[in-house]
Amino acid sequence: MPATLFLAPDAAGLARAADILRAGGLVAFPTETVYGLGGDARSDRAVAGIFAAKDRPRFNPLIAHLPDLAAAEEFALFDDRARALAAAFWPGPLTLVLPLRPGAGLSPLVTAELPTVAIRVPAHPVAQALLRAFGGPLAAPSANPSGRVSPTRAAHVAEGLSGRIDAILDGGACAVGVESTILGLDGTASLLRPGGLPAESIEALIGPLTTGGNAAKPNAPGQLASHYAPAAAIRLNARDTRPGEIRLGFGPGAAALNLSPTGDLTEAAANLFHLLREADRLAGPGGTIAIAPIPETGLGRAINDRLRRAAAPRG
Ligand code: TXA
Ligand code: MG
Repeated sequence: MPATLFLAPDAAGLARAADILRAGGLVAFPTETVYGLGGDARSDRAVAGIFAAKDRPRFNPLIAHLPDLAAAEEFALFDDRARALAAAFWPGPLTLVLPLRPGAGLSPLVTAELPTVAIRVPAHPVAQALLRAFGGPLAAPSANPSGRVSPTRAAHVAEGLSGRIDAILDGGACAVGVESTILGLDGTASLLRPGGLPAESIEALIGPLTTGGNAAKPNAPGQLASHYAPAAAIRLNARDTRPGEIRLGFGPGAAALNLSPTGDLTEAAANLFHLLREADRLAGPGGTIAIAPIPETGLGRAINDRLRRAAAPRG
């Protein structure tokens, strides 16, 4: 594959990106959560290319991205509850797992041959413009090598995937900074992954969620213990900093790197993956990152979920 192109998110860059996607190529693009690695979700070749570029285990299914609810209904079966959630939270950082519409034409590699499909309508204007220019569903996992920290800037994508994908649309830093919340709606509403939309917001609309998924749940990152892994070791809930450690702070206090000096969880989520990369660089091989305690509410659930995976023993 030739060198990866950097594209500006203007009319020419979007047209070029859409052409690459129509030819079965791979384009990384910004969403408000993290950068996605997009390919035509109807093309086995494009979707296989996504798995290959990421070195991703095949059993892990992908999210199909669409520009709006009407386009999403072509690929999944929505009931009243799903439509109410879409009306309240789309476009935005919420992925719905719904029954796959028979004959929808998605590559079976997208769903890993499950009877369900994960659907997301992103809010980022560049993602919206790309989906409309392309005119079809984009399969898009986070644009990082499998198991590594998700990218929230175009430079992060280049660090991990340069030379392995056709192009990167540069849309600057992602505003939310953690992946979308994944809600299973194939039966009882179930929180499959905490993410950029706080579970409390969903519960305010449809009542309590179950957690832990169901028997049909595939291997989500939740079941791959080590994920989002930096090279350095991680110490969680660190109230002190030991000699030689790099501190990643939260709230007031002395720390070179701080997720949010004011203790704001939205700001902390937006900074999380970038500062994890910075801390990893500073800690160096064999080093340790000491991370301050983060409250387990709102976006704190997604932040702590990603940090626990970053700290898990490496496989
Ligand atoms: O914010 C995001 O969601 C980003 C941006 C690019 O949209 N995407 C993302 O994709 O995080 P990825 O592939 O890293 O995570 C998708 C998750 C995986 O954990 C996968 O197991 C789960 O969605 N998933 C996909 N299809 C599913 C299905 N049918 N049932 C249950 N889980 C599913
Ligand atoms: Mg990912």
